Amino acid sequence: MPDFIPVCTPLLGGNEVKYVMDAVSTGWISSSGSYVNKFEEVFSAYCGVKYGVAVCNGTVAIHLALAALGIGKGDEVIIPSFTMIATAFAVCYTGAIPVFVDADKETWNVDVKKIEEKITAKTKAIIPVHIFGNPCDMDAICSIAKKHNLYIVEDAAEAHGAEFAGKKAGSFSDIASFSFFANKNLTTGEGGMVVTDNEDYYKRCRYFKNMCFPVDAPRVYSHEDIGFNYRMSNLHAAIGLAQTEKADEYRDMRVKNAALYKKYLSDCPGIVFQKDQTNGLNVHWMNAIVVNPAEYGHSKDELIAHLKENGIDTRLLFVSMHRQKSLKDFGCDCSGEYPVTDWLTQNGFYLPSASNLTEEQIKYIYNVIKEFSK
Ligand SMILES: Cc1ncc(COP(=O)(O)O)c(C=O)c1O
Repeated sequence: MPDFIPVCTPLLGGNEVKYVMDAVSTGWISSSGSYVNKFEEVFSAYCGVKYGVAVCNGTVAIHLALAALGIGKGDEVIIPSFTMIATAFAVCYTGAIPVFVDADKETWNVDVKKIEEKITAKTKAIIPVHIFGNPCDMDAICSIAKKHNLYIVEDAAEAHGAEFAGKKAGSFSDIASFSFFANKNLTTGEGGMVVTDNEDYYKRCRYFKNMCFPVDAPRVYSHEDIGFNYRMSNLHAAIGLAQTEKADEYRDMRVKNAALYKKYLSDCPGIVFQKDQTNGLNVHWMNAIVVNPAEYGHSKDELIAHLKENGIDTRLLFVSMHRQKSLKDFGCDCSGEYPVTDWLTQNGFYLPSASNLTEEQIKYIYNVIKEFSK
């Protein structure tokens, strides 16, 4: 048996140490250093978008995007029921109400056929989330948004470099958000970014991110709006720049690992994978599987315990937004059925997914899963 295989470890295989040492040795360690600007330029260009604003995590990136668009109390924002809680919390921070739409059974992204039934006169925006790096059907989402005059804020926290119809995730919305948490395909440890093609939104994001200090004028200490300190440090941006230099390489590693998991596990009954979005490039942030107990012979929980006994780490999938006490107490409508999201939560989990996972490790994980099947 190999050593313990964690669910994810960061891959810091390029200029990270060099750039961080440079930031430290020159004393530029807070948010004013040049790595912040460079990281914003390089990462937004990688997304095919004009402007980037680096922030301290992916949750506040969503909040900043919504705040810059003027979304607030009295508004509703449509989000998937199957997402990380950050998507919903960021809406709550603005005072708007998150409204949930169930997932598609195949892609596990928001079910685009169910969005319109949730639109009301109060709806201001849709937040599509590219779940596990699988791009949403942005053709359908953009046309719904256009028809109902809604903003789109892509939550691309899990989808660095993902593509739909040849365009990168982050390039379909008014403002898009990313996370650079340690388990993401590209990381800064903790960090996030918003990207946009709209100069006005870009300036508003910069303004709100930094306590509403004037963006293009000398710094004075009179503040006309309530702002946030969402700044990213130069140290984090130094890591982000080094990571972005490796973006395609790291993406390809995750894509290759996902293909290997699928290849090996294809002969194992009762193991279901996320279906890649048609006309898209899934960057496979996480390799999630759903267990069909009748076919596999064991439940998800039994398989997780068996994997643990064999030194393989796993993580549970997100619990549906409509089952969150916090959101119910906030005033969200948590009635109704979200059968696909519940199915994912009840039967799914992540397998180890680090970029530098080896084929030998994947084969070992496969053997442990296969041997345990009935
Ligand atoms: C879909 C989604 N949105 C937002 C976030 C929040 O990012 P962060 O942890 O950097 O705040 C995450 C984090 O994993 C996420 O998966």
